[in-house]
Amino acid sequence: MSVSAESIRITNRIGQKKNGLRKTRETEIAQIAWRLRLFEPDIGPEEIESVTRVIASGMLSMGAVTEQFEDAFSKFTGARHALAVTNATAALHLAHHAMGVGPGDEVIVPALTFVATANSVLYTGATPVFADIVGPHDLNIDPEDVARKITPRTRGIVAVHYAGYPVAMDRIMEIARAHGLYVVEDASHAPGSMYRGRSAGTLSDIGCFSFYPNKNMTTAEGGMIVTGDDELAERMRRARSHGMTTVTWDRIRGHAHSYDVTGLGFNYRIDELRSALGLIQLNRLADNNKRRRDLMQRYLTNLVRLPMIQVPFGLPDEPVSHHICPVLLAKGIDRKRFMDGMREAGIQTSIHYPPTHLFSYYREGFGCREGMLPITESVARQEVTLPLYPGMSTADVEEVVLTTEKMLEASFALERG
Ligand SMILES: Cc1ncc(COP(=O)(O)O)c(C=O)c1O
Repeated sequence: MSVSAESIRITNRIGQKKNGLRKTRETEIAQIAWRLRLFEPDIGPEEIESVTRVIASGMLSMGAVTEQFEDAFSKFTGARHALAVTNATAALHLAHHAMGVGPGDEVIVPALTFVATANSVLYTGATPVFADIVGPHDLNIDPEDVARKITPRTRGIVAVHYAGYPVAMDRIMEIARAHGLYVVEDASHAPGSMYRGRSAGTLSDIGCFSFYPNKNMTTAEGGMIVTGDDELAERMRRARSHGMTTVTWDRIRGHAHSYDVTGLGFNYRIDELRSALGLIQLNRLADNNKRRRDLMQRYLTNLVRLPMIQVPFGLPDEPVSHHICPVLLAKGIDRKRFMDGMREAGIQTSIHYPPTHLFSYYREGFGCREGMLPITESVARQEVTLPLYPGMSTADVEEVVLTTEKMLEASFALERG
């Protein structure tokens, strides 16, 4: 069986004007017709209607809808403050900026994460220092390795809740408080995850969420910052919009005529269209997370009989977001052949993540090298992510598992042969 490519015809009417005639250019983009994609956003007529309403209103950037979105997110997480921003990378940058780190400072981060976790530290001039993960059963940052990586220059720690499974935050906070360090949670994967009865993102000084289209809830691009600290909230609120003391929405409401600029800021504002999307998506999040849990349970029940695969984390007692379904292939399985086989069968898989410290930029610019993080590196060589999203059926999960079994056998035989 082989996957066919579907063509999408895109007409470009902005083409060059020649001899007074506007030329139309047609571009063909080949797209694989997957039977099952890695993720699919859950977008319906409600989203379309609410975005259309915002467009018609004429108020397009941060205004009443953004305030509603922030209030709703703050209620959902139990955080005192919620600030909507352009994306989670901006949220993380604002967090480190608000903590005042800069050149000469170090912030400890995991490497088994999206590159934005470390990049956002670099934006401030501070240096990310990588800590290893706990093990193949828990792909989160290891608090004990964090403790070993602390130097007199260390100022902060970033905890990424991988796939939505919470980091051992009690221990992280204990270490941080003992050394006077700040903690930021990169909760991009974890909206709706709970840890000892509290929401992920609210367990530290600042929590950052992503609403990129592959996340549990999406605003296309978008992100959110939560904090319980009034002063940090005000610092990040200003830095989100050029360091200004008021924004357009304050002036429209007649709350202010002008503004001062009290520090260097950025333009990390969200817009009303995205906030409208976010409000609807947030309403669906709990049900969608529950659906993800049911599907994950089905995966676990079925995958347990495959000896060549290991599923990290298991099914925690507390609700978690189950952002992705990561599995670890046994040593001896050729991962590329396995993933090629899955693609041939129409099932999209991915890798979470190529570790940050082994990217050329980090090797060449920051002296990172193979062997620095043995557990991260070993897991990163074996990890494959299987499809998981609320629109999947249990039959879809069973199809993925059956195909996985077939491809594992083929990839193992090939490796031996
Ligand atoms: C763990 C993690 N951190 C940060 C980000 C960055 O999020 P955004 O794309 O919203 O900037 C992502 C998104 O992929 C992520 O998965």
